[in-house]
Amino acid sequence: MMFERFSVKGYGAIVTGGASGIGLAFVEALAESGARVAILDVDSISLGKQVDRLSSRGLDVRGHKLDVTDRKAVDQVFAEVSAEYGRLDVVFANAGIDPGIGFSNPDGSPSEAGAIENYEDERWNRTIEINLNGIFATIRAAARHMKRGGGGSIVVTTSIAAYLNEGMIGAAYMAAKAGAAHLARNAALELAPYKIRVNAVAPGFIVTNIGGGWLKQPEVQNSIGATVPIGRIGDADDLKGLALFLASRASSYITGAQIPIDGGVSLGKRPA
Ligand code: NAI
Repeated sequence: MMFERFSVKGYGAIVTGGASGIGLAFVEALAESGARVAILDVDSISLGKQVDRLSSRGLDVRGHKLDVTDRKAVDQVFAEVSAEYGRLDVVFANAGIDPGIGFSNPDGSPSEAGAIENYEDERWNRTIEINLNGIFATIRAAARHMKRGGGGSIVVTTSIAAYLNEGMIGAAYMAAKAGAAHLARNAALELAPYKIRVNAVAPGFIVTNIGGGWLKQPEVQNSIGATVPIGRIGDADDLKGLALFLASRASSYITGAQIPIDGGVSLGKRPA
């Protein structure tokens, strides 16, 4: 049956940053399809709430409080989860932050705080630490366990910012996402002989809690949504189909890809 190729039933999966937004959509897509999912997140309150909510629906999820910048803790949690599940088939390296405005404000006016000459070390370092170094630590831990298990699928959440420049988005975010995208491709090449596939999803504007939830404001949604070729801003649920596709055998011959999921933003602005 064709649909069997999309099956993740019984898979052991890990999702970092899985207590909110895009990561939570990945968790739901996997768990609702019969996978066992470990949610790793630094926000213990959201983590507890989501684990309770999904468990009460009969889904097989567990939560681990984890900061992906803590390399030792990453290794420990991966060891624990792999031992508990007896296998590790799928890892979503998704945790990330938006450290604030770039060199332009949303209305196009220049932003003092985001200008490169004013860009603060603390903001730069924190972004690279979570959005790039955290992805490295996650891929490394995943590779160790998947090599032992004979294969798997790693999916990195990058962004259209990995290849498109946009003044609203900060310099550190751009650099971290481009780095994560290329790291994913390099890992894809290195790990292909071990039957480990590594792909990236590059979302456009998706309504989540990122950056304090600025994309939840109706006026921001309307103004940005009008420029998106498909005509609206995205919802985390829009990523579920792609998540299941990349996690499962349905994508068995795809590795090293970065798939935009952006309503066409990568193509340009919506034609009038
Ligand atoms: P979100 O803020 O709703 O969710 C991110 C989750 O990651 C939160 O639960 C947060 O607690 C967790 N997290 C943050 N730092 C962490 C750390 N150090 N260790 C462990 N967990 C940590 O944001 P969203 O939008 O769901 O972001 C998920 C990924 O999607 C990020 O990598 C982000 O850069 C990327 N992305 C988001 C876009 C959007 O428009 N929402 C667009 C392009 C990429």
